[in-house]
Amino acid sequence: MAHALGKPAHVFGRDREWRALADFAADLRPEATLGIVSGRRRQGKTYLLRSLAAATGGFFFEAAEATEAESLRMFGAALARHAGSAADFSFPDWENALRYFADLAGPDPVPLIIDEFSYLVKASPALPSLLRREIDGRGPSQGGGSRARVLLCGSAMSVMGGLLAGNAPLRGRAGLEMVIKPFGYRDAARFWGVSDPGLAVRLHAIVGGTPAYRRQFVRDDAPAGPDDFDSWVVRSVLNPDRPLLREARYLLAEETDIRDPALYHSVLAAIAARNETWGGIANYIGRRASDIAHPLNVLEDAGLVVKETDVFRAGRTRYRITEPLVTFYETVMRPRWADLELGLGAEVWADSGPAFGSQVAGPHFEALCREFARAQGRRVFGVPVGEVASGTVTDPGNKAQIEIDVAVFGPARPGEPRPLISLGEAKWGKVMGLRHVERLRRARALLTVKGYDTTATTLACYSGAGFDPALAAAAADGDVLLLGADRLYA
Ligand SMILES: Nc1ncnc2c1ncn2[C@@H]1O[C@H](COP(=O)(O)OP(=O)(O)OP(=O)(O)O)[C@@H](O)[C@H]1O
Ligand SMILES: [Mg+2]
Repeated sequence: MAHALGKPAHVFGRDREWRALADFAADLRPEATLGIVSGRRRQGKTYLLRSLAAATGGFFFEAAEATEAESLRMFGAALARHAGSAADFSFPDWENALRYFADLAGPDPVPLIIDEFSYLVKASPALPSLLRREIDGRGPSQGGGSRARVLLCGSAMSVMGGLLAGNAPLRGRAGLEMVIKPFGYRDAARFWGVSDPGLAVRLHAIVGGTPAYRRQFVRDDAPAGPDDFDSWVVRSVLNPDRPLLREARYLLAEETDIRDPALYHSVLAAIAARNETWGGIANYIGRRASDIAHPLNVLEDAGLVVKETDVFRAGRTRYRITEPLVTFYETVMRPRWADLELGLGAEVWADSGPAFGSQVAGPHFEALCREFARAQGRRVFGVPVGEVASGTVTDPGNKAQIEIDVAVFGPARPGEPRPLISLGEAKWGKVMGLRHVERLRRARALLTVKGYDTTATTLACYSGAGFDPALAAAAADGDVLLLGADRLYA
């Protein structure tokens, strides 16, 4: 393999993705190969692939929503530009265009990238089959020879998923399937240039790890420090002249192909208000449970919502919103939309403190603590970590439910009790005390009875607001682990 292609300095993070793409692009096998890159909107797919094309001299084409004839004309123009021709190429049909396209690669491997491929497929449904013919026609049985490294990229998850699903023509052809995800919360803090952990959590609770929200969407305006946060929210997020205000609405419209956004927003609002079970959502929006099956499926396919199973109560699932901005929109923006459009962002924000704390930052902090336990669990607890999840422990004696925010399991061993490494509670805005530990202790006892291996279960308190002296003393005795927001970023 040729020596590794360096990642351009302007590309932040994405080391693993860059390595995989560079490897794919430099693959020396004498046959055409196919890769698929997908991901939600604004995560940096185009940015990464354009950078790859620039670094390798590859071909890059970004399709637009257009008719077949116009798309073909634009594709011909892009190929002509790539070839340095003054006149645009005009192809009679896609078959001819794709043949020329796949022939761009000679004996040296070169990436041939089509971005927003799903737009092309919409206008020309036969395209995947035609492309498959071109790729197969340059396979080993044909004497190979072409080192075309075809990369298809697109964002409508259902469409891109459809390219590879079931008996789709390109199924089984892709040697690379990459999903570009938002930056992890630690990378996101670095990308925003934020070092204060409390600020980083609050910021991430609004904009998450979507790269574009750090750049064009705020014109590179990041909060200068913790004291600038409120002002930043008002000037950059709750501002009718800035795109973040409407972004959550566009996301829903762009990622899904829906005609009735009202129902979808109601479903999302229900989840954001922590009515997270199927029945809870239906009840909140006043529909029958069967009515929300379809919207929930669509939202799941689009990657905006995920279904999580309660680790302690089999069969109980809850839905969570994956994009923080959507939770923020449903909680803070949507209820006050008219005021926001009038430019009353400062007032709205002043009124939103409690809702932001309890419905946005609080649950978000719990999710970050789980992410932390997944990534750092081995270092924190000193043993290998398996599943990390939340769950509910039923306490029949007290007729209560104990919510466990961060349950950490060891790797499962068949035939043995499931090892429970840690039970944790996370509180964003509350100073934690001994009563939190008492509840965790009770949960541990109940789970022991239920057959979990709790011999080495650590009780953990995660707090964004600190710990009271009694709890700090108990922790000093080695009984409990205390983790502040700074630990999440250490
Ligand atoms: N790795 C990165 N380093 C620095 N900036 C990035 C990175 N990834 C994305 N960005 C910024 O985010 C912006 C949006 O990225 P891009 O347009 O590539 O997203 P996309 O996934 O193609 O979105 P869409 O699906 O809407 O086309 C880029 O213009 C760039 O400013
Ligand atoms: Mg793009």
